[in-house]
Amino acid sequence: MTVIRSQLLGTGYKLPAKVLTNDDLSKMVDTNDEWISTRTGIRSRHIAAAGETTGDLSYDAALTAIKNAGIRNEEIDFIIVATITGDNTFPATAAKLAQKLGLKPGTPAMDVNAACSGFVYATQIADNMIRLGQVKTALVIGAETLSKITDWTDRNTCVLFGDGAGAAVFRATEGEGTPEDTGVLATKIYADGSQYEHLCSDGGVSVNQKAGFIHMDGKEVFKVAIPSLVQGVEESLKIAGLSMNEVDWYIPHQANLRIIDSVAKKLEIDMEKVIVTVDHHGNTSAASIPLALAESFEAGKFKKGDLLVISAMGAGFTWGGIVIRI
Ligand code: COA
Repeated sequence: MTVIRSQLLGTGYKLPAKVLTNDDLSKMVDTNDEWISTRTGIRSRHIAAAGETTGDLSYDAALTAIKNAGIRNEEIDFIIVATITGDNTFPATAAKLAQKLGLKPGTPAMDVNAACSGFVYATQIADNMIRLGQVKTALVIGAETLSKITDWTDRNTCVLFGDGAGAAVFRATEGEGTPEDTGVLATKIYADGSQYEHLCSDGGVSVNQKAGFIHMDGKEVFKVAIPSLVQGVEESLKIAGLSMNEVDWYIPHQANLRIIDSVAKKLEIDMEKVIVTVDHHGNTSAASIPLALAESFEAGKFKKGDLLVISAMGAGFTWGGIVIRI
C-alpha cells in the first residue's frame, strides 16, 4: 500500500565560535577537568557571544540544511523551532526566522517547548503534518543558547550545558508502507509533569517576570533519564515493526556519557554504533540530537539505507523516540 513518508533531505548545524574548556571553568568555579570529564564525559562546550541569539544560530544551521537538501528556501512550507531559549518571550523564534529566510508569505511557523526532547516532539509534529498532506517540505530546528540561563556561579549546573543549533529538512515522498521504506518510520512522545521541579527554570514570565536560571537535582534526573531513553527507543522501534538488532546507529540525547553508556548496555547495542558528541558539545538541550545528526552526516558516518534510532529525555519530564531510515 502506498503511503506518504517524511524523507530526510538534508541537515545542517551551527556552533558558536567560542569554546569553553573544563580548565576554563576551573578558573570560574570550584571544579576541575578530572571531576567534569569522569562524571559527565564533557571536555568542552561552545558558548554564544553576547549578541548572538538562538535565532542567529538557527538561521545558519537552516541555511546549511537547505543547501544540503538541494532545495530553495521558498520550497519550505512549514518551519518549527524546538527551544527553551527563544529570542523573545513572544513571538516564536520560528516566525522571525521564516521572515529572515525569505520563506513564502503565510508559511506557518511555531516554536515548541519540550526541553531536551524538543527535536523529537518537533519531528513528530512535522512528520504528522507531512503524512496528512498538510505540508510538503518542513524545516525542523533544535536550537539553544543555554548559556544565557546558566548561573555561572553554580558548579552543579554550569559545567553541563552548551549552545548550538541543528536543522533538518523533511519532504513528503511515496513509500510502500513497510519497515524497509526510507524516511521517518515511527515517532513516539511522552510527558509526565509530576517531577517537573527536579529540572526547571527558577523563573518565568507569569511567575516572576524573569527568564531565571537552570535548576537541576542531578541525581533525580539521572534515575529517570536511563529508563526514559530506553523506552523512547523500544517503543518507537515497536511502532516501526523493527528490532534493536536491525539498528545501524543510535543517537541518544547528549547529556552525560555515563547515562549514554548505561542506556547502550540496557539496549545491548555496541558503543561503536552510538553517536557521542557530548564530549565537545556538552548538553545543548533541544539542539543536542540535530547537532549530533548533522555532524555525523558531515563526517560521512552514515550510508544510504542505514537505520537510525533516536531517543531523548528532558525537563517536564518529556521523552520519546524516532526511527528513521536514511
Ligand atoms: N565540580 C566539582 N565537584 C562538584 C561539581 C563540579 N562541577 N558539581 C558537583 N560537585 C560535587 C557535589 O557538590 C558533591 O559534593 P558533596 O558530596 O561534597 O556534596 C559531589 O560533587 C558529588 O555530586 P553528585 O551530585 O553526587 O554527582 P553525580 O555523580 O550525581 O554527578 C551530575 C552529577 C549532574 C553529573 C549527574 O547527576 C547527572 O548527570 N545527572 C543527570 C543530568 C542530566 O541528564 N540532565 C539533563 C537531562 S536533559
